[in-house]
Amino acid sequence: VAAPLYLDHAATSPPLPAARRAFDEAAAAAWANPGSLHAGGAAAARTLERARRQLREALGARAYRVVWTGTGTEANHLGIQGLARALRLRAESASRKAGGAATARVLVGAAEHASGFHPAKALAAEGFVVETIPVDAGGVVRAAALAPLLAPDVALVSVQWANNELGSLNPIAELVAATRAAAPHAAFHCDAVQAAGKRVEPLDLLGADSVSVAAHKLGGVRGCAALLLRDGVTDPEPMFLGGGHEDGLRSGTENVMGAAAFAAAAAARTQLLDADPRALAARRAALLERLRAIAPDLVVLGPAAEAEQLGSILSVAVPGVRAETFLHIMEAEGVYVGSGSACHAHGTKASRVLRAVGLAEELHDSVLRLSLCGSETDAELERAAAAFEKAAAVFIG
Ligand SMILES: Cc1ncc(COP(=O)(O)O)c(C=O)c1O
Repeated sequence: VAAPLYLDHAATSPPLPAARRAFDEAAAAAWANPGSLHAGGAAAARTLERARRQLREALGARAYRVVWTGTGTEANHLGIQGLARALRLRAESASRKAGGAATARVLVGAAEHASGFHPAKALAAEGFVVETIPVDAGGVVRAAALAPLLAPDVALVSVQWANNELGSLNPIAELVAATRAAAPHAAFHCDAVQAAGKRVEPLDLLGADSVSVAAHKLGGVRGCAALLLRDGVTDPEPMFLGGGHEDGLRSGTENVMGAAAFAAAAAARTQLLDADPRALAARRAALLERLRAIAPDLVVLGPAAEAEQLGSILSVAVPGVRAETFLHIMEAEGVYVGSGSACHAHGTKASRVLRAVGLAEELHDSVLRLSLCGSETDAELERAAAAFEKAAAVFIG
């Protein structure tokens, strides 16, 4: 029996061989507490620092320092709540000077991942005014939608690089430039958890102040993620107090094996991207062509232009189909895909993102997310299409 074909890389991606090797090496030789003063601790600290350098290098983030966290969710909390709290006074005094009510505002994209959306919304309970930046029908935050919300009383703008349900890319560099021009006291946070390791653009060029990345979305080992902080940016207020690790920004003994694996995975991804920058886009297009031939009324979610697509995510609504049943039929054929977002606890909650892009209500339960790693063969794409055809036949006849 053939091994299952895994097309759910946006939920999590299996550890790459390079990541497993780096994890094992660190587990054997660098397992000590990097804070310990003996030689074992020093070896662990060296491995951790090497991973920090390697991650920055791989992601093109030379202007950033790496703050290790446990998950992408945690990195988003530190980048959003931590920075908003740290910048609050400046934004409030700007508001007061302008004759306003001395409130600080936070702007968050309407289609952000829950781990970025809810921490921003929760700031309202602390007295921030939290506003949602609308997205267009493809799920993209346009500079024209952000511009009217920008003013000196904004403490934080948070917009993800790639959307995990739609695969849409936001024009981060453009949004950062607009923010710098009209909201001089604001930090710009970018959730790059889905996009990191899948795009050739270096993070340095996007120019955000803080960037979330997570190992398990790019072939590392789960339990390690990071917030990248651009040089010169105000320190976020830490979410956890304790031993003062990570320059006091994230207390808790560092996950050295996870960090080594994360950096190795990011480096391996960069090599793959350099070797074939269109690997993901080409496979996505080839898969879509096959699915369209089977279900011509397929509705493709996300932006139409390839330049605005992440490449690794193909999100489609198949009219008249229940995605949950559909994906189990595909699973029986040995092909694993996702429905809507597996990042919700069980993928069953009504999607705020689908509402934000105005997808017709009757299609909300019909959304399948096929997500790729970029090394799928033609035969594998064919196999995915055959499983899709089998499932479609059950519904469509
Ligand atoms: C865009 C995005 N941000 C953040 C997260 C959260 O990352 P984690 O599951 O590592 O907390 C995910 C996925 O789960 C995601 O897709």
